[in-house]
Amino acid sequence: MRRAWALGVVVAAVACAGGELDRPRDAVVTTPFGSPPLAADLDPRADHVAVSLRAAPLGGSTTRLGYSGASPGPTVRARVGDTVEVTLDNQLAEPTTIHLHGVHLPYEMDGDGHGAPPVAPGERFTYRFVAERAGTFWYHPHVGAVTQVRAGLYGALIIEDPRDPAAEEVVLVFSEVPGEAFDPPSHAHATPLSVDYRRGQSWLVNGARSPSLSLASGTVVRARLVNASADAPLRLSWPGVRVIGTDQGLLPAPHDADEVPLMPGDRAEVEWRVGASPFDVVALPDSVVGPVGGDAVTLLSVAPTGELDAPASRAWGAPALPAVDLARPVDATWVFTGGGEGSDLRINGERFPDVTPTPAPLGQELVIELRNLSSTRHPFHLHGHPFRVFSVDGAPPGFESWEDTTALEPFSTRRVLVRPALPGEWMAHCHLLTHAAGGMATILSVRQP
Ligand code: C2O
Ligand code: CU
Repeated sequence: MRRAWALGVVVAAVACAGGELDRPRDAVVTTPFGSPPLAADLDPRADHVAVSLRAAPLGGSTTRLGYSGASPGPTVRARVGDTVEVTLDNQLAEPTTIHLHGVHLPYEMDGDGHGAPPVAPGERFTYRFVAERAGTFWYHPHVGAVTQVRAGLYGALIIEDPRDPAAEEVVLVFSEVPGEAFDPPSHAHATPLSVDYRRGQSWLVNGARSPSLSLASGTVVRARLVNASADAPLRLSWPGVRVIGTDQGLLPAPHDADEVPLMPGDRAEVEWRVGASPFDVVALPDSVVGPVGGDAVTLLSVAPTGELDAPASRAWGAPALPAVDLARPVDATWVFTGGGEGSDLRINGERFPDVTPTPAPLGQELVIELRNLSSTRHPFHLHGHPFRVFSVDGAPPGFESWEDTTALEPFSTRRVLVRPALPGEWMAHCHLLTHAAGGMATILSVRQP
């Protein structure tokens, strides 16, 4: 197993590094920077993927944690239709779980810490599911999450659709520098602005600070972006942003944009048509109350090798989505309050776990209105079920997509369409992990009608 894992590292590094002879622009980097290591597939069967992730302190550190010796942990890759097994080996001194964020799976496999008990120190648990939707997902603990995620427990989970156009791939997991994070628990009450200003200077990309990524000119790169930070919003930008996918895979219509907003828990897929010119991926100043003034910070420098021109765009795109009637009646409403200084974090006036579950009969589509009555942004996340955002303050959204995490802007309302397809007591919560820990969570109870 060890040997196979090491091989994964080499393959990933070579695939992303372009030419080994070309030094990165910043000669500080001694090993080629690239995607996180790939988790070794321990199951020889073609349609099965079995990986093992050991949650443990990194090196001799008491504050940094990782999976199988790395943070981000190894990327789990499978294809649509595969049976996927992720075995968590808990070598931490406390309970943990692996939540497969955004994946449609049986409730007991959700790792929310309720559907199945948390995994005790020294114990193992295998999460098992059949991959149904292609997309860029991620995994992280769902108990002690504020501390564990901040300490480095997160990784990417990619479900590939073999029918997608071929392209080089890069996985970029953005997180905050461990140890510089703001002190949690009873504190979501800290000044949001100061917190976010400071954090804006402290991003890591695949665990590295301001790395340089070497890519061959003349290639099309599908970059999969994950905001794995516990509670820092991110606005990424570079020249010629083209978004081809979001949380739940490719968009029916890729679009050009000035920036890619990524709230904690959010993902995006973007296309880089790499020519001979270097470019920087920057973070525009952002905060939990919305974009703020200040300078952009360079998070990643892309250094092309070779002199080839930028190639043409690939024909990305998923089938068009059926229209949703804006006037479709609302079946349930979740009102988000709190998040500012000294205020209580609640959904419908309730604080998790003392909440009234929202019933959702299995198989019956429902519209949930998400109303943010606070001056703080809340990235809303629903477990197990993708949803369509079909109305933003009464108007259609800028683009059509299936999401599992969506930003609720201050004093705004979004309506989402959900298809309850799997029985369970599915968590729905704000993905600012301090907010979730502070009680901003509720339950969608999916049962046989
Ligand atoms: Cu990514 Cu309930 O979490
Ligand atoms: Cu929140």
